[in-house]
Amino acid sequence: MSFLKIADPQIYKAILNEAKREHQKLELIASENFVSEAVLEAQGSIMTNKYAEGYPHKRWYGGCEFVDAAEEIAVERARRLFGAEHVNVQPHSGSQANMAVYFSVLKPKDVVLAMDLACGGHLTHGHPHNFSGRFYNVVTYGVSKRTEQLDFDQIRALAKKHKPKIILAGACAYPRIIDFQKFRKICDEVRAFLFVDIAHISGLIIAGLHPSPVPYAEFVTATTHKTLRGPRGGVIMCKKEFATAIDAQVFPGIQGGPLMHVIAAKATAFKEAQRPSFKNYQKQIVKNAKALAGALSKRGFRIVSGGTDNHLLLVDLTNKGITGRDAALNLDRAGMTVNKNLIPFDKKSAAITSGVRIGTPAITTRGMKEPQMETIAELMSQILNNLSKNNVVSNVKEQVKKLTNQFPLYKDLIKRMEK
Ligand SMILES: Cc1ncc(COP(=O)(O)O)c(C=O)c1O
Repeated sequence: MSFLKIADPQIYKAILNEAKREHQKLELIASENFVSEAVLEAQGSIMTNKYAEGYPHKRWYGGCEFVDAAEEIAVERARRLFGAEHVNVQPHSGSQANMAVYFSVLKPKDVVLAMDLACGGHLTHGHPHNFSGRFYNVVTYGVSKRTEQLDFDQIRALAKKHKPKIILAGACAYPRIIDFQKFRKICDEVRAFLFVDIAHISGLIIAGLHPSPVPYAEFVTATTHKTLRGPRGGVIMCKKEFATAIDAQVFPGIQGGPLMHVIAAKATAFKEAQRPSFKNYQKQIVKNAKALAGALSKRGFRIVSGGTDNHLLLVDLTNKGITGRDAALNLDRAGMTVNKNLIPFDKKSAAITSGVRIGTPAITTRGMKEPQMETIAELMSQILNNLSKNNVVSNVKEQVKKLTNQFPLYKDLIKRMEK
């Protein structure tokens, strides 16, 4: 029996439809994933009821003994997974995690050196409409025009010129390995803090498929819902000397009561990430991204930087004469969900863009492997080479359905909800 179905049939229907959409379509947004039923259960638990302002054994309210246990388990698991000196699992999201780091060491107008949004940076790394760009004096670095990869000579020159208090590494649309040791060296040269945002690549780092910034950076933030495959949320890791400052900036600095049900689900996701199968999953994510990049490239699509080392690829659609916006809209009509994305040195606006970003974490969770990447590249190519041809869209849509039916998602949940 479903309580929700009786209490709120409209929301029940929206959830059921979303579950069906997730099953029926190919989810290729690089920042999304599908959590396990165990994570869902923890997140949907009665821990949502509990106010627990403060930290384990130092709360403002009574009755926290069991949420204390959940938070301590989450912290300890994250500490071990990342090898971090101190962990805070309370940030409601990646944005809050980043905000708490800035607030712990910066004053308004201090200089931050971060990656340009058009080259892969994130809004919270200094976009003028975001708090980061409004509070701080943000200078941006990009990528080399020739390689479309990080240019450490440029980063060093900017650091020497602007003397930032923080140098921020990390991105939401950068397909290559980031050398954190090189960032550390530059930080030491200009006496800046190194802050690394691993929101996207945290799962790859846990699996040892991307170098970890934890030994080099004073501050590392992550989200738990991307490659890590946990509930929606953020985490901060830092060196011991900053532990008090970070904890104080999360609460009472920018948040009130932590979302204890989400913290419980984070703990469950961390447990899942300790398993050998998680490492194999992450390996397959990268294999799939490489296979998809290769298969698209074979079909005449230009892959930014010539390929990928991680879970995502950027496709430059300029030579196809279509925009990122049109590509994303048409792919979605055929059941393939991607997002339009700026490419380095893009001449188009962020609302139009010349590219799309494609990620493999979600389709890999479903069990798809290299042969399916070949099929997906072919289906994408059919759509992008025949924009707005309705017969092509309906034919591809059918093939997407056939493919997703071979890799069922939330089958039992949908069956239960449909009863
Ligand atoms: C690199 C990076 N940092 C931070 C965030 C913000 O995370 P959230 O959406 O949880 O606030 C994102 C989200 O996409 C991201 O890609």
